[in-house]
Amino acid sequence: MSARATAVAHSNIALIKYWGKADTRLALPATSSVSLTLDAYLTETTVEWGADQDSITLDGGRIGGVAADRVRRFLDLVRDLSGRRDGATVVSRNTVPTAAGLASSASGFAALAAASTAAAGLEPTPRELSILARKGSGSASRSVFGGLAVWYAGTDDASSYAEPLPDPGLDLAMVVAVVNAGTKEISSRDAMLLTAETSPYYRAWVDASRGDFDDMLAAVAAGDFTAIGELAESNAMRMHASMLGATPPISYWEPDSVRCLRRVRELRSAGVECYATMDAGPNVKILCRRPDLDVIRDAVGSLGVAGVTTSLPGPGVRVTRDAS
Ligand code: DP6
Repeated sequence: MSARATAVAHSNIALIKYWGKADTRLALPATSSVSLTLDAYLTETTVEWGADQDSITLDGGRIGGVAADRVRRFLDLVRDLSGRRDGATVVSRNTVPTAAGLASSASGFAALAAASTAAAGLEPTPRELSILARKGSGSASRSVFGGLAVWYAGTDDASSYAEPLPDPGLDLAMVVAVVNAGTKEISSRDAMLLTAETSPYYRAWVDASRGDFDDMLAAVAAGDFTAIGELAESNAMRMHASMLGATPPISYWEPDSVRCLRRVRELRSAGVECYATMDAGPNVKILCRRPDLDVIRDAVGSLGVAGVTTSLPGPGVRVTRDAS
């Protein structure tokens, strides 16, 4: 039987953020989160078992160091689940700029989870796949699903998983202002740990985000775009505020990030309803509704930022090929 499979997963952008772990070993987050999977950015990964040792190729180049160790540790989990003892050849292609705060680890580990399990002959349920992907990267638990997804923080391995939320029927869309697609100075993993360990505002972040999460679920259930957008924007700002309080302070913002945030406020004043969110990078993601995509893209594009991408909600992870 073939021990090879290919999977495609899309990135997701959190509307209620995950920022801090309750349990590092189990990869349990301190708070629950909500995200929108995007069609614009994806990772395609092929895994073939049967090698002497693991090898990992990303965008045509062999990777080593910390990034490769992280993939190897993840493959160990799949070896434990499947009883395999051999190595895997992993070949991955990203349309997400890697490690630039555009959720490459989310699509990356969701695709790796699906391809590596399928190639090993396992047939995980979507929930099992979400739990497994979580252990590669927390946000990857949500990329298993398309559209809006909720990741319940949970209290143990089995209760910390993502699942899709019913479509609120709002024609959600996103404009991504790429301020800088270069690699970030500090990874989200390290930055959230430093925030949790040193920021006096971390506890306040956790408390506020729990409230934001409950409010977001209510807003999605009510199909209330204004409430969804306002919550997403303030939750992102609260997350960044918690980082500024770390020692040393963490800031991913660049001058163009601030210009984009201001442009979003101007658009709102002009009657174009849109809301900004930012992750562990300088890029600004703008939540809007589909009919407003072009006007927002043009308004942000005229600022002269490095790039502007528009995106609709994307699908969940899928195994595309099981070649022999
Ligand atoms: C700011 O999922 O990259 O994008 O679990 O340590 O791999 P690890 O972290 P990661 O963190 C994502 C942080 C965020 C917010 C979010 O996606 O919820």
